Amino acid sequence: MRISYMAGNWKMNYTRSEALSLVKELLDNGSFKNKILIAPPFTVLEAVAGAVKGTDLILGAQNMSTNESGAHTGEISPLMLKDLGVKAVILGHSERRSIYGETDKIVNTKIHLALKHSLDVIFCIGETLEERESGLAEKIVANQVIEGLKDISENELESITIAYEPVWAIGTGKTATPEDADDIHKVIRKKIGELYSKEAAENIIIQYGGSVKPSNVKELMAKPNIDGALVGGAALKAETFIPIMEYNK
Ligand code: PGA
Repeated sequence: MRISYMAGNWKMNYTRSEALSLVKELLDNGSFKNKILIAPPFTVLEAVAGAVKGTDLILGAQNMSTNESGAHTGEISPLMLKDLGVKAVILGHSERRSIYGETDKIVNTKIHLALKHSLDVIFCIGETLEERESGLAEKIVANQVIEGLKDISENELESITIAYEPVWAIGTGKTATPEDADDIHKVIRKKIGELYSKEAAENIIIQYGGSVKPSNVKELMAKPNIDGALVGGAALKAETFIPIMEYNK
């Protein structure tokens, strides 16, 4: 049985006081039967780490450098994240890929480095609207899986969650239909089966991301291959994130 895993990606939002008040609301009013992660921006990680210590709310980061230390102005090392109590990192988000030029190779390097430092990974993939309209969605996503997981062992795969986020559905209010999302999740699971094993395919957690909200989370989660959600906009408020966290309450 795969667990349900709901993650909130706060993107570039919130100062320390705003972040702490959202975390307090989640902890006071939410329940944590499902696996729940929040990924606030770097600048509030330390404050949030203090607030979530000893709770079931898992702390994640939104990105990480390809290097451990040295002359990398503006970058954040996995060692620094570990030092703050961060447990997981989102890698390969489409905004990192499209705005900041991250390639599959860069994402693969980051995944290796995160795992080396025992950080769990949420590995994001997804096709653009143009790719979908050209009938290339399955091919693009399968290729992102192959390239992003290059030289990752089956053992290491246990620390990785895949997030399928069709780029055209992120922040647009457009959600993939549960059927369309599940079809791609099936392709991803099949690819994991080919690259690793039947067991690995059965066990891998695959989140859907792209305009997930309280009104659509249930029907998405009802699909057999959708195991969780990576949530942007709706993760910024307790009143919209808690119903997602507790979709099956
Ligand atoms: P959204 O973002 O929920 O605002 O569409 C999802 C994401 O980018 O992870």
